[in-house]
Amino acid sequence: MEFSLITSPAESTHIDCLILGIFENHRHSQESSEFNTQTQGLIDNLIKRDSFDGTLGKTLTINFIPNHTYQRCVLVGLGRQDQPISSKNYRKVLTSAIKALNNTPATSATCCLTETPVENQNYAWKTRQVVEIFQGSCYQFGDLKSNFESTIKLTHIAIATPKDNLLDGEIGLTQGIALANAVEFTKNLADSPGNICTPSHLAEKALALSEQNNHLSTDILEEDEMAELGMGALLSVSRGSRQPAKLIILNYQGGKPESNPIVLVGKGLTFDAGGISLKPSAGMDEMKYDMCGGASVLGVFQALSELNLPLNVIGLVPTSENMPDGDANKPGDIVTSMSGQTIEILNTDAEGRLILCDTLTYAERFNPEVVIDLATLTGACITALGRHPSGLLGNDDALCADLLSAGTTACDPVWRLPLWEEYQDQLKSNFADMANIGGPAGGTITAACFLSRFSKNFRWAHLDIAGTAWKSGDQKGATGRPVPLLTQFLIDFSNNACN
Ligand code: BES
Ligand code: MN
Ligand code: ZN
Repeated sequence: MEFSLITSPAESTHIDCLILGIFENHRHSQESSEFNTQTQGLIDNLIKRDSFDGTLGKTLTINFIPNHTYQRCVLVGLGRQDQPISSKNYRKVLTSAIKALNNTPATSATCCLTETPVENQNYAWKTRQVVEIFQGSCYQFGDLKSNFESTIKLTHIAIATPKDNLLDGEIGLTQGIALANAVEFTKNLADSPGNICTPSHLAEKALALSEQNNHLSTDILEEDEMAELGMGALLSVSRGSRQPAKLIILNYQGGKPESNPIVLVGKGLTFDAGGISLKPSAGMDEMKYDMCGGASVLGVFQALSELNLPLNVIGLVPTSENMPDGDANKPGDIVTSMSGQTIEILNTDAEGRLILCDTLTYAERFNPEVVIDLATLTGACITALGRHPSGLLGNDDALCADLLSAGTTACDPVWRLPLWEEYQDQLKSNFADMANIGGPAGGTITAACFLSRFSKNFRWAHLDIAGTAWKSGDQKGATGRPVPLLTQFLIDFSNNACN
């Protein structure tokens, strides 16, 4: 989909559909009032006839406009006019608008909704949301259906922007397009089935990314190189799979050569059957999504290279399958991690932390400014927080605060859980330095405690995205989260570094 800014929406001669906001009690927004005058009160007449009162998120489609260049018009309710609407409600309005628009045959539309006052948000933010939500709502994964015909007819959205706000609008447009493309890239990878999206496939996608941008390069570590580094925890997981593990290393050098990089680590389990501690079969297909952390890291690099941010960022994606096999990990096995610490594998289904711990140790060699890992790590996170925020844990309050704030701005929220030392006791093993599970109590926290033992030498935060990376049920599909959160974090970071 293409997006552009337009300063005089009413004068356009070639756009199909106009999207206008209407407040409760039939109160006009500025653009709807203008259009109403232009059409001799058509809007007033129709909203009264069809009792469209501007309730938040309600829509009314007008499919014929006499004597006007626009073919049709979608009216969207904005709720009460007496105060700015909340960010969440603005997103609801946009979601309803694009839904109504996609129910028309329009191929192009002008969106006038950015004129709506939104609490604490400027034109850049409002414009970016239009791009993210409109493009996000048009995503379909149809490549693997025979004779798939997309139901999406839209190709172009013009966003109405007053002349005085053009500068902000441009910022929002650029960021929105980069983000929407990155989220789409991540969703596509994540929705791909495990027999196609293997560790080698992820590695190829990462290599292809670096061809788009001169500042971006990709390296792939193979199993023999990981063995040389002593990555015994990571390799113990892939031993049970016919697919060789890969460690993807993305290097984006957009900043000063001497500035330390931000390191992003994404869990890339392309299928998690649980191993010998086999998962129950119901819903096991969703474990193709166990690589969403890795797919999001790749997505963030796609956004980075589109935005050309003045930062140095390293992406590390350990990728493997977790399968039952004659050579797979067995409960009770003890492995030696790259850090030298030994791990008793009491449950082979707690494999994410095994591939992450060696990658975190590997991250040390980059002298990171901060390290952020993202992983579909624990079902317990869904029990604790549901499917709205991602779980956040870390050893650095300032870093966690920055992630919380980026999550709010990007509408991709996180919620912090404690990482108190009391929980560390649950990882005691009688036979090794630690066990890989901490029992049923506080499973998200003990998983993070495990990772913290490999993150002592840098500022570190962990995002548990088990509840947020994809949706289950009849809406089953990847969300692209936390690409918006992390991209916002990097944008904020580069703004602060330049000031
Ligand atoms: N990938 C899963 C976590 C998961 C499960 C994410 C369901 C989303 C939905 C992870 O590898 C896993 O299996 N974790 C175990 C840990 C347990 C054995 C300590 C879990 O959550 O059950
Ligand atoms: Mn598992
Ligand atoms: Zn897993």
